[in-house]
Amino acid sequence: MTIILTILLGFFFFGVLLWYYFHIPGDLPRHLPLIPVYVSLISLWNDMGQDEIYERWLRKPLEKHGAVLIWFAGRWSILVARPRYLTEIFRNEDLYAKAGSQVKIPWSVIASLVGDNIINTHGENWKLYTQIMKPGMQKRDFDTNPMVRKSERLVDILLEKQRVAKCNDLGHEGGVAVNSDVQKWAIDVMGESFLDYDFQCLEKSHVRVEELQTIIKKTLFQPLYFNFPVLDKYPNIFTSRRRAFVIMKEFEDKLYNIVLTNPRKERQATEKIKNKQVAQLLEEALDVGKINDTQFRANLKITFLTAHENVQQLMNSTFWELGKNLEVQNRLRTEILGVETDTPTTEVVNRMPYLTATIFELLRLYPPVSQLINRVTLQPAVLGGDIHIPARTWVGWNAYGVQIDKNIWGPTAQEFIPERWGTTVDEMQAKFRKETVRGTYIPFNAHTRKCLGQGFALLEMKIMLFVLLRKVKWTIHQDYTLKLTPGGILAPIGCKVVFRRVED
Ligand code: HEM
Repeated sequence: MTIILTILLGFFFFGVLLWYYFHIPGDLPRHLPLIPVYVSLISLWNDMGQDEIYERWLRKPLEKHGAVLIWFAGRWSILVARPRYLTEIFRNEDLYAKAGSQVKIPWSVIASLVGDNIINTHGENWKLYTQIMKPGMQKRDFDTNPMVRKSERLVDILLEKQRVAKCNDLGHEGGVAVNSDVQKWAIDVMGESFLDYDFQCLEKSHVRVEELQTIIKKTLFQPLYFNFPVLDKYPNIFTSRRRAFVIMKEFEDKLYNIVLTNPRKERQATEKIKNKQVAQLLEEALDVGKINDTQFRANLKITFLTAHENVQQLMNSTFWELGKNLEVQNRLRTEILGVETDTPTTEVVNRMPYLTATIFELLRLYPPVSQLINRVTLQPAVLGGDIHIPARTWVGWNAYGVQIDKNIWGPTAQEFIPERWGTTVDEMQAKFRKETVRGTYIPFNAHTRKCLGQGFALLEMKIMLFVLLRKVKWTIHQDYTLKLTPGGILAPIGCKVVFRRVED
């Protein structure tokens, strides 16, 4: 009798827990389509990529209604992919306020990693961080030497790996998995450009901050904890989470020590603000008490993370797309080889139309930040005149969806066609700006909170492609089939390619 009662009570409490976790708050706009909860949980038992999940469950309702209700990271939220709604949200940051994990799930592993920083905060703190960091992120003339040097080094490493890659049992040529070296390249360029520090990931083996990135990326997107962040409250029960907190702290302390012990300070104390790097600007703000130690650490970490990972994953997508789309690869190489210099300066790469178009198109079909749900309504809102949203509701956007929508980009929306951007660089840039303002092209977001590193990222990509295509050609390794990440940053997983020197 007692056993039966215990079992019944167990079921009852489990039922109450399920209800508490998954019930839809009554004041959410119920006329919006509801994405079934299992779609959000699918990565727990299936390895579908974001593209497959989007196509199967999200595309139709989002294209028809522009917004849906979706259960995301432990709560019901509104996800938007109609340009009119998107621009309304992006223009209205006082109503749809940025609120990252530090607000949503402050006890979690991810919150301990990112803290309150320039990307995820709102109001006075955002203004303060922007005033300090912006001059280091938006420069008229970034030093392109580190980009060129590190890109050349990456190409040499990839070629060497190709040389030693073994044939498989069938005698097929071996391939090179590109991601780990691309990560090292992206960290090195970020370090020299924003932290005034050469991590030398491409030169040395076992650079700990770089090794930690691989662990961190795996840890953050573990489906169980990503979907049930409440579990992070119990690190004593879930020991892997206890380890995760330790890893985040190790990364923070390592980075903090590297930056604070860098002899940059004496060297550059008298330099003009336009020459200063983000780390130095933050350090000066810390010294005069504009920000405290916690704010310093959080902004240092977010600079490290955001300034390398998005470019890293865009490069992975580039290897995939141009490795299977040889027509574009060859056309791009013809443009690059047609330039009579080996030195890709800013002026040189910014004058190249097909290079510009290819990168814009890569960002359209493979936006690294494909979806974010990190805004909260500060008051009741009426989106688009008919979606009534209560205060304290989480609202997010889907860039991938709007950028492959055939109603917006035409019947070829899902095809890779750089030519759609026009023929001259001016024409392309005008289209880029127009589509961004209209909310139809948002790889860097738009309006008030758009990316501050956009110019840098485009330049870094142009230089990398210039160096790469001048020296090598590549195809996708025949054992590799595309699998995109199931959530988080959008990119092919484990892309493997076969390189050849251009002259071969
Ligand atoms: C391909 C590369 C990149 C992509 C696709 C990208 C994309 C984005 C997106 C979508 C946002 C908006 C995030 C949100 O709404 O919460 C953003 C914000 C931001 N990005 Fe980037 N980013 C890239 C590279 C960089 C780089 C290299 C930096 C340099 C440090 C950077 C710095 C920032 C900052 C500071 C913000 C916050 C701006 C604000 O809220 O005022 N990004 N980025």
